[in-house]
Amino acid sequence: MVAALKLQAEYPDTVYHVKQGGTGSALSIRDFSLFYGAKQALFDVTMSVENGLVTALIGPSGCGKSTLLRSLNRMNDLIDGLSTSGEITFGGTDIYAPQTDVIALRKRMGMVFQKPNPFPMSIYENVIYPLRVDGVTDKRILNETVERALQGAALWNEVKDRLHESALGMSGGQQQRLCIARAIASEPEVLLMDEPCSALDPIATSKIEELIEELSGHYTIVIVTHNMQQAARVSDNTAFMYLGRLIEYGDTETVFTQPKLEKTHEYVTGRFG
Ligand SMILES: Nc1ncnc2c1ncn2[C@@H]1O[C@H](COP(=O)(O)OP(=O)(O)O)[C@@H](O)[C@H]1O
Ligand SMILES: [Mg+2]
Repeated sequence: MVAALKLQAEYPDTVYHVKQGGTGSALSIRDFSLFYGAKQALFDVTMSVENGLVTALIGPSGCGKSTLLRSLNRMNDLIDGLSTSGEITFGGTDIYAPQTDVIALRKRMGMVFQKPNPFPMSIYENVIYPLRVDGVTDKRILNETVERALQGAALWNEVKDRLHESALGMSGGQQQRLCIARAIASEPEVLLMDEPCSALDPIATSKIEELIEELSGHYTIVIVTHNMQQAARVSDNTAFMYLGRLIEYGDTETVFTQPKLEKTHEYVTGRFG
């Protein structure tokens, strides 16, 4: 197999052999570059994110995984001196078009971060926080949302009798599932997760991984992970990034077991990290 591997220079473009979800692409990234001031962090990234599937972004630290993830919901907008070129479309709309309503865009994409970040309030209030922001006051809707989101995040049974206790008293793994519940409370289409298990122990990690499997199909999920076993376990498609470039993108099994490029092979077999 190794003999068949090629160097990227032998390919005109990044390799594509992605698994299709059957319902098309949720996000389409074309020739996307990003600069933090003078420093270029992404170089001509072109890839699609398939509807209802789990897409993993892997690659060594500093290769641009978080930058690309944050570009999808324009979280990077808050950074001074940021500039981009190229295009990202979501359901056909250009995310970076001047007329794009960024608040509305972010509502369609829930985000989960490396460290669980529950707010210092009750479990109940954490989950319905996005609805509170929208001014929803109907108790029935709020109660239904809490149950649906906590069920969805596989947390309901553990917390249903203490919904009004502080979220800060939960374990780290529960806090992260609470953050997932909060992210799905407003029924987004996409879930963006940036190394959601990096602060968790192995048992809490495997619960989140099971949850990701349950959520896929209902949501389009993009997950950044430095844990290659995790990418192999949870994702349908894997994008390997290196030094700000997308090197290889394909269905996860192929990327891990029969990568097309030598660089990908070296990374997935742990020869550099
Ligand atoms: N706010 C920022 N300002 C300037 N440079 C940044 C900023 N955030 C990230 N970078 C740089 O961009 C590159 C990609 O970073 P990042 O997307 O965080 O990588 P990864 O998530 O793969 O570890 C790195 O060189 C990093 O130092
Ligand atoms: Mg990162």
